[in-house]
Amino acid sequence: MKPLRIALTKGRLEKTTIELLEKIGYNCDEVKNKGRRLILPIGNNDFEVVLAKAADVITYVEHGVCDLGVVGKDTILENGSSFYELLDLGFGKCRFALATKKDTDFYSGYNTKTIATKYPNVTRAFFDDKDMDVRIIKIEGSVELAPLVGLADGIVDIVETGSTLKANGLEVIEWVCDISARLIANTASLKLRKAEIEELQKKLEAVTK
Ligand code: PRP
Repeated sequence: MKPLRIALTKGRLEKTTIELLEKIGYNCDEVKNKGRRLILPIGNNDFEVVLAKAADVITYVEHGVCDLGVVGKDTILENGSSFYELLDLGFGKCRFALATKKDTDFYSGYNTKTIATKYPNVTRAFFDDKDMDVRIIKIEGSVELAPLVGLADGIVDIVETGSTLKANGLEVIEWVCDISARLIANTASLKLRKAEIEELQKKLEAVTK
């Protein structure tokens, strides 16, 4: 049978995911010495690893070309979920927050507030919950810039250490939700390759508790 294919999020989550896979006994030398290659074997050809951007991890898993994926809850919340979320891997911990320039009275006044974010769906859901109408502007990165240059009244963004906010004179006015890396599975793969997937899930569960 073909090896199970796992899509890993490149960048921030990559190193810790590889460390976890090594911890449960799979040799990851090929991934660590990948160069520019994007599909790599791990273990004794037990799995095939695909490296992709976070949102693409979800796309590959949803389309069934990858059986499993490791991706942040932030990307899951933003991009929907026609897949199974199997396990909270307990790393890549951070939070979504609403932040503004220091000492801003965000909720005062009657004008519609403008929010800049990389996560419009998460932002929309957060303010819908409050029955508050806001204008959302999608930004691709360094969202903290938007309130500083006067594009937005606030931002909804990921906060890990808080140092980016602090360095730019911004502060959290409300936490939105917690985020961490998750193991996800394609729905058909979960049925067709149940035993193999459950075995990997159990091993990962044992080292992430
Ligand atoms: C993320 C996030 C914040 C920063 C938070 O950005 O969007 O800007 O990290 O981390 P901190 O609380 O530890 O300072 P990232 O580095 O992924 O870059 P980007 O904004 O350009 O996407």
